[in-house]
Order: sequence, then C-alpha cells, then structure tokens
Amino acid sequence: MKQQAQHTPPFTEGINRVDGIMKVTGAAKYSAEYELPGMTYAVFAISNITKGTITSIDTKAAERAPGVLAVLTHLNAPKVPGYEAGKDPSKPPTTGGPLKFFVDNSVKYNGQPIAMVVADSFERATYAASLIKAQYNKQQHETDTEKNKFKAAAPKGGRNGGDYKRGTPDDWKAAAVKVEQEYVVPINVHNPMELSVTLAHWTADDKVTVYAKTQGVKSTQNAIAQAFKLPVENVQVTTKFVGGAFGNALRTWPHEIATVQAAKLVKRPVKTVLTRELQFNTVGYRPYTWQKVSMGASADGKLTGIIHEATAQTSSFEEFTEGTVNMTRFMYACPSVGTVYKITPLDVNTPTWMRGPGEATGAFALESAMDELADKLGIDPIELRIRNHADTDPENGKPFSSKNLKEAYEMGADKIGWSKRKLKPGTLTEDGWLIGYGMGTGVFGAGRGRATVKAALLDNGTLLIQTSVTDIGVGTGTAMTQIASEIFTGIPVKKIKFELGDSSLPPSPTQGGSTITSTVGGAVHDACTQLKEKFQQLIGNGGTDKPDYVKVLKEKNLPQLEVTVTSSGSTEMRNFSSYSYSVHFVKVKVHPKTGVVRVDNVVSVADSGHIVSPKTARSQIIGGAIGGIGMALMEEGIMDHRYGRYVNNNYADYHVPISADIPQIDALFVNKPDYRVNPMGAKGMGEIALIGMSAAVANAVYNATGKRIRELPITPDKLL
Ligand code: MOS
Repeated sequence: MKQQAQHTPPFTEGINRVDGIMKVTGAAKYSAEYELPGMTYAVFAISNITKGTITSIDTKAAERAPGVLAVLTHLNAPKVPGYEAGKDPSKPPTTGGPLKFFVDNSVKYNGQPIAMVVADSFERATYAASLIKAQYNKQQHETDTEKNKFKAAAPKGGRNGGDYKRGTPDDWKAAAVKVEQEYVVPINVHNPMELSVTLAHWTADDKVTVYAKTQGVKSTQNAIAQAFKLPVENVQVTTKFVGGAFGNALRTWPHEIATVQAAKLVKRPVKTVLTRELQFNTVGYRPYTWQKVSMGASADGKLTGIIHEATAQTSSFEEFTEGTVNMTRFMYACPSVGTVYKITPLDVNTPTWMRGPGEATGAFALESAMDELADKLGIDPIELRIRNHADTDPENGKPFSSKNLKEAYEMGADKIGWSKRKLKPGTLTEDGWLIGYGMGTGVFGAGRGRATVKAALLDNGTLLIQTSVTDIGVGTGTAMTQIASEIFTGIPVKKIKFELGDSSLPPSPTQGGSTITSTVGGAVHDACTQLKEKFQQLIGNGGTDKPDYVKVLKEKNLPQLEVTVTSSGSTEMRNFSSYSYSVHFVKVKVHPKTGVVRVDNVVSVADSGHIVSPKTARSQIIGGAIGGIGMALMEEGIMDHRYGRYVNNNYADYHVPISADIPQIDALFVNKPDYRVNPMGAKGMGEIALIGMSAAVANAVYNATGKRIRELPITPDKLL
C-alpha cells in the first residue's frame, strides 16, 4: 500500500455499495425471481442436427403431457408482426438478420430451438419438451473456423471492415529484428452466474410487461415494441438486478421475442429461463479468432512496421464483427502499420460482444508479439513499450485527451517487484517451481453518450435521482450516488436514492462499452448541478453551503423541487483521441513436472481518469483480472466439429477461475482526471480491466519456462 500512496493522489475511500446489503442478504430481486399470478414456464426442444431442414415434427405426446398449455413450432406459432415486416428487432443492429424462431423449418446451428413448450411448471415443461421428436433433412455443416479460414472475407456491413494501411507496413520484413507469429483465441462463453431470463405478461391486447435479464431496458423495450408493432410506451421492461452479463445481454435475442409471443398465445405470464447448456449458443459468445502479427524493429528497439491480421467466425445468417485489430493502429508510435480483418460464416449461432470485445482478443496477439520482440531484442518489455510510446495518436494525428500510460507502467512495475524479473526465461525458481513475470497493456475507447436524468429534492429530505439504466453488477447505483453526494454535500448518502432499471424512467443507454459512468454519471452530475442552482434561486441570495432543504421546501409549500436534464459529451472531443488504458502485471509459478500454472500475484493499473467510486472501481479491476486469468488459462468452448456441437456446455467442463485459482490482486489507479470526457474527469474501466490480461499471463509463463504458448488457453498439456 505504501507504493500506491507514493503515486496515487489522495482520494476518498468512497461510499459502500448502496445495494450491498440487499445483495448479500438475498433481498435483491433478480429477474428470474419475479412471480406473477397464473405464471407459466417455457422450455425449448432443440435441434440435434447442425444444418438442414425439419421434415416433420411430432408434438402430440408433448401436447398431451400433464400441465402443458401450448407447444409452439414453425407449423403453428402465431406470427410476430414485426418479423413479417422484415424488420430487425435486434439492438444494437448487426448486418444480416438475427435468427427468428419458428418462422420456417430451417436449422442453422446445433441446439437451435425448434419448439417451445409452455406448461404450468418448469418441470412439466421440461418433461414435455423431451417428448418432441423431429425428422430432418440433414446437410453438410461447417463449424470449424480454423478449417474454413479460406472462406473468410472482409465484413460487408462496413463495421470494423476495410483494410487499414499507413506508410509501408511491409517494412517489417527488412527490419533488424523480426517477429512473425500466429495466435489463437478460442470461443469464450460469458457464463455469468445468472442465466438469461424473460418473463412476459400481456396486461391488455396491446400492452406487455416484461421482466428480463438485459443490459438495457430501453433497448429491450424498443426491440419488443418493434417486433410486436406496439407503441413503445405499451411495453414495460424492468431489470432491477443483473447477476453478471459481460455482453450477452446487450441485444435482444430471439428466445425473448418467442417468450413474449407465447405469453400472447396462452394469455398467461410466461417465464423462460435458459438452461446453462442453451447459454452457450443462444446468447452469443466471444468468437474463435485466428491472428497473425508480423512486426519488425531496428536494433535499438524502434518499431519499423507492423501487420496485424485476424479472422473470426460469424454465423451463416448474420454478420458479427469486432475491433480485433484496431488497437494496433494507434497503440505504438510505428510509422508503418497495416491491419486486415476478416470473418468466416459458419453453421453456428451468432457470436456477440464479450467483455473487452475485439480488443481482448487483439491485445492477446499484439501484446504477446511485443513480448516476443523484446525477448529477441534482449530488452525489458516495458522498456520496449516506452521506446515506442505514442505521444499523439498515430492513426489520426490527434492529441490524446489524456494518457498516463508511462506512469501506469511505473506504478505496476514497482508494486509487483518487476526488478526481480530475469531477462532470460526459465532462470528463476522458488521451492521447485519456475517463476516468471509478465505484463500486457490494455486499451479501450473512452467517450460520453447521451442520457436523461431526473433529479428531485423531496420534502422528506430525500434526493431522488432517476434514469432507466441497468446495473449489470458493476455498482452503477453506487457510483451515481457518489457523484450526487459530491454535489449535494449537505445530504447524507443514505438520503440519496438512485432509481434505475425501469423503461418508464428517463432514457439512458444500454450498459456496455465502458461508457455508463461517463454517460449517465455526466448526466447525473449535470442534473444535480442544475437542481442545486434551482434551489439557490428559490432561496435567493444568502444561501448557506448546507441549507435545510426540508425546511425550505415546507416553507415554500413545495412537495418537491425537480429538474430533468438531457446531456451528452462536448463537441470539443472531436479534436482528441480518447482512450482508457490498463497495464497488467502478473507473477506466475509453473510446475516443471506437471505444467500446472499458478498465478501468484497480479497488479492491474488503470489509467481511467478520475476514480469516481473507489470501492466499485476496485471490484471492476479485480473482476476483469479474474476474467483475464480465465481467458488465459481455462476458458474454451469446445465443439466437436463432426457434430457441430459443444461438448463442454456446462459449468463442470467449461472452466472458469474459482477462488483457489486467484491470488491477491492489487488494483492501482493513476487517478488523473480527464475533464474533456465529462465533468467528473472519469474514463471507463469495464473493458480495460480484462484487455491485455491474457497476454500478461502468457508472457509470464514464457518468462518462467521459455515456452511461448500462442494458443489459448494455456493448459498444462501445452507446457509439457
Ligand atoms: Mo460489455 S461486452 O460492453 O457488456
């Protein structure tokens, strides 16, 4: 802690989680926990072929099974009006179309729902679904990205598409020191503890209430309104707590639309909770991605050229893309850079954004390659990065709104004891274990979007703040309360109430992309500031710092004083490049006989502007580091390509870190405000907490063993 104090400007400890007691006592109500009178349960029967058509489907036994109210298939499902119009109910939009359930007899991936059983209990629905038998006309399928790389092409939709080139990237070939290597990140599946949930209840012919696991109640509201051609205000979406999402609830998936459709048919509330098995291919995953990095440097370690290529999987019916290679364009001061990004359509469900989407995959390759280059040059990997530090954005020439990466390197190196690292791999041991140190850098765009916030002083002394944003578990309510409490210093924290997760509240964007503290926090800041001004006007001159709000409102006979404010980022931002940075430092122990890797120490440093809410920020960094350790050492969605089917779609076989895998993690913050981004000076940190971590682990493993693992996860077999 001493070292942290040397570097970190003093900042308050921050408030406790406002919903912490609710969460640990079970009082927090998650979407699956809502019970409605007459509620029914939906369970899917799924395809066991990967590609083809359903030639017949026998639902008679299921229909006769006890407690069954309805069985929906492509033969009888009521039409979803928005589907008929050919509109895309998916938000955010992707090129191509999302899958629509029960509109035709086609099977596009293994495990695709082919029927939905609605029954009066979950168990009865599950049993009835098991009775459904389908016959198929099977076609040849392809699910292997590696094998189908040759089919890959630039995305058509324009997103993340287009090859990038500056200077003469091929210059790397003529460099004094070169690295040319391939890297693989397998399928990663979000696997939050909370399964995907939709509970739909039609309260009138044209009005539906939905409790859902979503990262954005407004986007779910819009998607359902569009699918069922309803006025937006006729759709009510509530999401008070989310038990982890990591990107898999960023868009509205077809099983959610099917649940709303089923509720309309049976005229009773219908609840769908996906099984863990269905989580694997119903709500997206991080796509398998092959990458190649070619880079060259002069003998003194100055980069002369980099080419970063990536090929990822998408589905046969929809184009998913992410910014896998984009960070390579601006991360280092290299005169010549080329990037190529391709996707290959396969007979799988569509991938989606998963924490640090794109960059987490790209940083594994780029930051591994940088480590390989440093090793060949015989220089310290931090020194290599400092020699190639970009002072301005090399992609567009703009100044950075803030960048304190050098300071972050120094803070982390001090804390982990980087000076103990040996340049030559495999030379440090402790009690029979090989010891290695590694580091990796992360980066993610920082910005501010638009949000609307209502803030009201009530005559019972409460400061009520409302907006529709959901909290996916990161502590948004706590951060927003912290921001409000720093403006209304006279109001005790327990009298500040932040209401969220309800589509009838003022609009906020979907929680994702590390933007909510900046965007909603900015709007909370602006709303509280304006409310304070309004109050000052009310009392006239001579107000004190800590006025008695209750007394004043009562005197003026006002039950409440309120403002509603919509705000967004400044246009000045166009003149700057704005990013959050992270540097992850890892110490590993590798057992030379078993190949077991133990992560022994982690220091993650975030350069993410002013830290608004220190306690929840620390949790964000720790959570991201754990996710990164999982990505590096354990996580892999394994498909048997003969059948196009996952073989480890459960928590027993898909490994994620447990407490015993995780050492002490130190979260350090540069904590320098960037007031260009928002009035709090905060930049995002959700994504950077994970981006770069898997490379740090791989680099530490190399430093310990001299073995470079370029294909994640780094399982013991790869080290023997
Ligand atoms: Mo995140 S992938 O922005 O939920």
